[in-house]
Amino acid sequence: MAQTNAQAQIEMHKELAPRYAFRYSFPFSRRFQQDWHGEMISHVPSGAQRILDLGCGTGFFLAELEAKHPGAVGLDISHAMLKVSDEYVPGVRLVTGDAEKLPFQPAAFDVVFCKGSLHHVRDHVGFLTHCKNALGGKGVLIMSEPCNDNPFIRWARALMYKKSKHFDVGDQGFSKRGIISLCEQAGFEVVLAKKYGIFAYVFAGFPDHVGILRYLPGNDLLTRFFLGLDRVLCALPGFSLLGFHIVIVARPR
Ligand SMILES: C[S@@+](CC[C@H](N)C(=O)[O-])C[C@H]1O[C@@H](n2cnc3c(N)ncnc32)[C@H](O)[C@@H]1O
Repeated sequence: MAQTNAQAQIEMHKELAPRYAFRYSFPFSRRFQQDWHGEMISHVPSGAQRILDLGCGTGFFLAELEAKHPGAVGLDISHAMLKVSDEYVPGVRLVTGDAEKLPFQPAAFDVVFCKGSLHHVRDHVGFLTHCKNALGGKGVLIMSEPCNDNPFIRWARALMYKKSKHFDVGDQGFSKRGIISLCEQAGFEVVLAKKYGIFAYVFAGFPDHVGILRYLPGNDLLTRFFLGLDRVLCALPGFSLLGFHIVIVARPR
């Protein structure tokens, strides 16, 4: 039976919800995710209060956001993912909804976060235009998305997305230039675009898939080392090509 992309995402994330909870249950993996979340949260402007996490999934980002900026709202299309959020971040405001049909008034938020959800929709400019409307003419969009500037990463991702049932073949990453252009088409000005995650991502990003790393002595220490190394490499023009993700900060024009 023909499925819309939204239906396919809901089905796929039903299976992924328990996997995410398992993945984040290992301290070395959590350390990596917390560093990534900290990088994104550091761009919240002072005084911002009304914050939306679009595609909040199982709520691990939302929990850290809530600790620093209480009162955030999480939205996700997958009820299964939100059920984990509800247990992990008790009391937080959660909305089941589609980012392509946002159920909020225009200008309802000062900050919109989007960690890894843009590449799950097919109309990227439409998604970003909804983000802009949710912000009104002000505020800030803070995103992190898979980046495919490196041809090897592009090839490996395409292969993995094709072979694994944990990905949809249409969920491709972006080039730096491509994602900036999408933001501009939706009426944003990109004020920061920086790569994130090289060795730490590979080492600590998937303990659910690479089981042996869960038992490796010193995995937490190694993750710290890789986080420091990645930070240096991502700041160097040539080496930043190795980054698996891109963090974008954009303001409505
Ligand atoms: C890769 S997960 C990221 C989850 C979370 N932000 C994190 O970093 O752990 C992508 C999330 O986007 C959600 N998603 C996919 N399409 C969506 C849509 N159209 N509207 C809202 N959420 C969507 C999925 O259900 C999933 O929870």
